[in-house]
Amino acid sequence: MHMREHRITTNVLIVGAGGSGLRAAIELSERYVDVVVVGKRPRMDAHTSLAAGGINAALGTMDPDDSWQQHAADTITESYLLADPRTVVHVAAGAERGIRDLERYGMSFAREDDGRISQRFFGAHTYRRTAFAGDYTGLEIQRTLVRRAEELRVPILDSVDITRLLVDDDVVFGAYGFDLHDGSRYVISADAVILATGGHTRIWRRTSSRRDENTGDSFRLAVEAGGRIRDAELVQFHPSGIIEPESAAGTLVSEAARGEGGILLNALGERFMSRYDPERLELSTRDRVALAVYTEIKEGRGTPKGGVLLDVSHLPRETIEKRLPRVYRTLLDLQMVDITTTPIEIAPTAHYSMGGIWVRPEDHGTGIHGLYAVGEASSGLHGANRLGGNSLIELLVYGRIVGEAAAEYSGALVAQRRSAARVAEARADVDALLEADGPENVRVLQRSLRETMTEHVGVVRDDVGLRTALRELDGIEDRATRIGVHPDLAGFQDLAHAYDLRSSLVAARATVESALERRETRGCHNRSDFPDLDPRLQVNLVWSGPGRIAQEPVEPIPHDVRALMRDVSTVGKLVE
Ligand code: FUM
Repeated sequence: MHMREHRITTNVLIVGAGGSGLRAAIELSERYVDVVVVGKRPRMDAHTSLAAGGINAALGTMDPDDSWQQHAADTITESYLLADPRTVVHVAAGAERGIRDLERYGMSFAREDDGRISQRFFGAHTYRRTAFAGDYTGLEIQRTLVRRAEELRVPILDSVDITRLLVDDDVVFGAYGFDLHDGSRYVISADAVILATGGHTRIWRRTSSRRDENTGDSFRLAVEAGGRIRDAELVQFHPSGIIEPESAAGTLVSEAARGEGGILLNALGERFMSRYDPERLELSTRDRVALAVYTEIKEGRGTPKGGVLLDVSHLPRETIEKRLPRVYRTLLDLQMVDITTTPIEIAPTAHYSMGGIWVRPEDHGTGIHGLYAVGEASSGLHGANRLGGNSLIELLVYGRIVGEAAAEYSGALVAQRRSAARVAEARADVDALLEADGPENVRVLQRSLRETMTEHVGVVRDDVGLRTALRELDGIEDRATRIGVHPDLAGFQDLAHAYDLRSSLVAARATVESALERRETRGCHNRSDFPDLDPRLQVNLVWSGPGRIAQEPVEPIPHDVRALMRDVSTVGKLVE
């Protein structure tokens, strides 16, 4: 078959044009290192643009007693002791610099009248440390980073889907992919590759990710390259996703709504959080609020449509307009609901992959020479429960660190590796998929997978359900060997969906197998058959392929951070 195949050579290839990928690209470019960024959606529309409520740093603008050590202590406490303390210290101590970098690139934060950056409360933070731009914080960050990357003339190819990393003898040397519009192929040779390819929450039916994003690409690309996945089972369900229309179910209602004073009510009009966390109420940890919402619905105190109510109608209209503009607009656009007068019906939504590619805390290297991962694709910061606002600061801090690490790695190489055989394999794989003409439809299989994950691997799990999920996964994997792939005049989306499905199947298997192995309740991972936290499982689970899971101990916590930590307890977690 004759097809156009572009050949590009660069020092560093970044896969993913969201916030973490762009921040890494900026670091590389400011160091005069050649970098190319590829992404599978338009650059302004990368998933980061959906991040809403804020970005954390102990700036102390509102609460001067805050410190990076307290930020680290809160993060480790709320991770249920599964976060890597070294990663946490990097992020908390580097957070202020991350904010200053954004200011340097021209980001406009919400400010107090005297010019200080405003900071709001987010759940389970000791102090107000979440800086924001209305509830469009991620969009503003994405715009800022795209603008800076364009100033630096970083090449961004944002219609290229990467199908495979090129790896020879445990050394990465680039990636293979195709253009989503015309199907032309790309062989990109690079000294180093940074995966900024997001998470896997699109494999649940109700999710805050849109179609075709967060399909688990990171899992597949890394594992096929010889990498490993840490804590795949630790998926954050955000308490508040909208429940209709079906096509947009799970779309986020930002935690900022509760941070600004919104309250949660069940169908009986009870402010139910007083039963689950009487002190922190709606600003309890995400795992508790999500479980509380789930429990209210499950036990019959939800609305007829299967939700509970999030009410901000008592807040001044000006607060809603200035600080929650996206929530206001989303509800008006999707449901014709005016939140200044009417409560919002919500239910938990799959929101964030707290696990991800195993990386070293110091440079986010994956153990495959020259291969790095960053942002939601990586792991180590969040453990079993992520503090809202920590992922945006992570991408600023580790985007810089991973950019610096890749620059140094590339600078130290004496030759760029190539392997015609590996490229031929990647090419043949795409050729074979394009020839696939079986009866199974990829979209149908994606939907089946989402049904399986939703029914059996949701907020509350148990052995029977997880084993059922494994059986159903076997069936979907089998059907996936008989798909048809038919690009048409509109483009090569059908081919992209086939790769998305492959990725999602890897991500689902990693998640279910790890969830089976974690026989305890910890943070987001609720096992109704193991309702207690098991101190022996204060370990990370590292998955390297079907049936292969290793336990990895968590490093000790530095004394100054440990001294500021509260007790980790599961009291108030009502697993039925
Ligand atoms: O609710 C939110 O605004 C989400 C923030 C986050 O996940 O960090």
